[in-house]
Amino acid sequence: MANFNNGNKSVYCISSGKGGVGKTSIAINLSYALSGAGKKALLIDGDLGLANIDVMLGAVSRENIKDVFEKGLDVKEILIFQNENLAILPASSGVVEMANLSFEGMGRIENILRSIINEFDIVLIDAAAGIGTSVLSFNAFAGQNIVVLTPEPTSITDAYALIKVLSKDEILGTLHLIINRVKDEKEARGVFEGLNKALDRFLGIQANLLGWIPQANEVSKAIREQKPFYLLYPDSQPSRAIEEISNIIAEF
Ligand SMILES: Nc1ncnc2c1ncn2[C@@H]1O[C@H](COP(=O)(O)OP(=O)(O)OP(=O)(O)O)[C@@H](O)[C@H]1O
Ligand SMILES: [Mg+2]
Repeated sequence: MANFNNGNKSVYCISSGKGGVGKTSIAINLSYALSGAGKKALLIDGDLGLANIDVMLGAVSRENIKDVFEKGLDVKEILIFQNENLAILPASSGVVEMANLSFEGMGRIENILRSIINEFDIVLIDAAAGIGTSVLSFNAFAGQNIVVLTPEPTSITDAYALIKVLSKDEILGTLHLIINRVKDEKEARGVFEGLNKALDRFLGIQANLLGWIPQANEVSKAIREQKPFYLLYPDSQPSRAIEEISNIIAEF
């Protein structure tokens, strides 16, 4: 946890090199756990061109951040409150221009976010997969960078590649890892230690193991039901894992 950018210390950007590793599911459930613990939380859909959060929650969003960006709508008016402590900032789906914003465009998105984040205790950004412009901008904006990976070798090497890119140009703040879809704690620790050794040796970076989440049917069942597993299956292993991560973040 050596490097520090100028990002906001209560903003967490959740990203991954490889897609489909569980970022959106983790972001949603973590935001529910944090809001349940009394934190005022803002969950931002940072997958600007292929938004998922509203779909995963079965929430209807008529307007989204694209309308703020293009038409100057007040961002406060498009927030969807899931409960009194949790607001969602939805994004657009199937919009190429939003998926490929320039750094200048991302600067404008950051200004939009700056106008609301102070009203929240914790802000989570669910980023797109990969190393595109939006991913780099959101990670620079956030003081806390969570990289999600699974035990699959391709997911591990892509996580390393993403972190390598983030480690340049003061993009990286505090680096946290979440290992998803693991068999057990031993597997999670093995993946973490392997990656952390490579990060230390080749990039001079140490990551913090924020937590691990087991492979479990409840996760995909909840997605199909368009509800957070944290609410549907509060006693399941994934919910307990999310709770532990939430407790750590709530104490930072
Ligand atoms: N712990 C888990 N156990 C079982 N299945 C999981 C788990 N985590 C994620 N999945 C499965 O992986 C799929 C992808 O999850 P999710 O959409 O959250 O990933 P993502 O990283 O946000 O993807 P993208 O890169 O496309 O945005 C889910 O539909 C779910 O079925
Ligand atoms: Mg996603």
